[in-house]
Amino acid sequence: MTYVVTDNCVRCKYTDCVSVCPVDCFYEGENMLVIDPEGCIDCGVCVPECPAEAIFPETPELAKWVEINRKYAKEWPVITKKKDELPEAKEMDGIKQKYENFFDPRNEKK
Ligand code: SF4
Ligand code: F3S
Repeated sequence: MTYVVTDNCVRCKYTDCVSVCPVDCFYEGENMLVIDPEGCIDCGVCVPECPAEAIFPETPELAKWVEINRKYAKEWPVITKKKDELPEAKEMDGIKQKYENFFDPRNEKK
């Protein structure tokens, strides 16, 4: 089991989630965060912190997201401190299919 970051994080990236994670298992891309499924201890405390309600416990329906989280947790740098959300966060909150349309696989160190 793990928790996963899903579609509505894209282009919001509020980052409230990182300040409560006891094991620092969030990783940061240009416009989304992911959770390392190997590091997550399933505590669930990040879920209510996300203003975009983008974090869920793993289920079979979310298998695609588990793999996205797994892949990019290996490629992106860890993030442990909250920072400002993206400037467009409010207007992008709730838009559908953001991953397909807007996801940016780069990370900030490249
Ligand atoms: Fe971190 Fe707990 Fe959220 Fe997993 S469920 S990412 S351990 S805060
Ligand atoms: Fe994303 Fe929500 Fe965290 S929008 S950065 S999962 S607080």
